[in-house]
Amino acid sequence: MVRRIAITGATGFLGVTLARHFAADERWRVRLLARRSPPPIDSVHPIEAQPYNLEQPVDASMLGGCDVIVHCAHDLTARARGVENNVNYSAAQALIQANEDGPRARLIFVSTLSAHEDSQSEYGRVKYATEQLIDCERHTVLRPGLIIGDGGLFRRMLTQLQSAPCVPLFYFGRRNLQTIWIGDLVKAIELVIAKRADGLIPLCHPEPVGLGDFYASLLVFLNRRVPLIPLPGEPFYWSLRVAEAIGLRLPFSSDNVLGVKHLRCVNPRSALDRLGLDVSDLQTSLQRLAAART
Ligand SMILES: NC(=O)c1ccc[n+]([C@@H]2O[C@H](COP(=O)([O-])OP(=O)(O)OC[C@H]3O[C@@H](n4cnc5c(N)ncnc54)[C@H](OP(=O)(O)O)[C@@H]3O)[C@@H](O)[C@H]2O)c1
Repeated sequence: MVRRIAITGATGFLGVTLARHFAADERWRVRLLARRSPPPIDSVHPIEAQPYNLEQPVDASMLGGCDVIVHCAHDLTARARGVENNVNYSAAQALIQANEDGPRARLIFVSTLSAHEDSQSEYGRVKYATEQLIDCERHTVLRPGLIIGDGGLFRRMLTQLQSAPCVPLFYFGRRNLQTIWIGDLVKAIELVIAKRADGLIPLCHPEPVGLGDFYASLLVFLNRRVPLIPLPGEPFYWSLRVAEAIGLRLPFSSDNVLGVKHLRCVNPRSALDRLGLDVSDLQTSLQRLAAART
């Protein structure tokens, strides 16, 4: 039986990767929900596409016939007074309602490890608030770590490092992060669907990496030698707040620095065991990325 999967944010790093994966599988029909034309995708069945904008209402008919919806779209530029007014939150509410009025498909909400009850960044707070909208008895909330691959935030980090004269390590680099290889994340989503795994699922390699080691690995990957400079976070945070207040656009936002400040590590082992998934560590992920680029 052919099943249908709808993917929001189908022009983004994860959305396109997921679309390519499922489009190559004859058991799936893929429906792309995006605000602009997605890139060409080879597909066994014709690809379906629907205009989708987080700022516009969602009609249940846009989701008609879907068995699974993966909600990847997120507008990082959205700012609002109160998370409930953030467009990412209201768009998730609208999508959930349209799903209830329509196909009642399994909803997979792509959240983040930055989402937790003590999140301070707007990004983490909005994701956490959105998670609370999801009925975790029927649906799934995924919390991936930083996604390693040729796109998204990670590629933006590599691009910045390619020309940076030095690498500032906020909070003196005394923070750890956790990562997941993009291919492992796609596999995890496939397993979530196959095993009907509901609830909250953290997805990352179990071993956290210190910020200094993380950036040192990226510099080796890029074959660059520039100094890593440990810095306090607070003065930088407040300088960014001032810069933002007078309308300056910089490669970092104060929200990014808050995100670093409140990085929190998790133990994903039971979630990975439940899915039967092994995930690559950072070094293996970088090797895979290098191989994919050649
Ligand atoms: N990348 C990571 O390391 C990471 C880690 C943890 C969680 N996540 C989460 O994973 C999801 C996918 O991330 P990603 O790396 O694939 O992000 P991405 O490459 O930045 O893609 C974001 C997607 O959201 C779409 N979008 C933004 N504003 C929109 C709007 N107003 N209406 C409709 N679509 C809109 C973008 O469309 P346009 O192409 O038109 O801009 C794009 O398709 C996000 O929810 C993110 O928060 C990512």
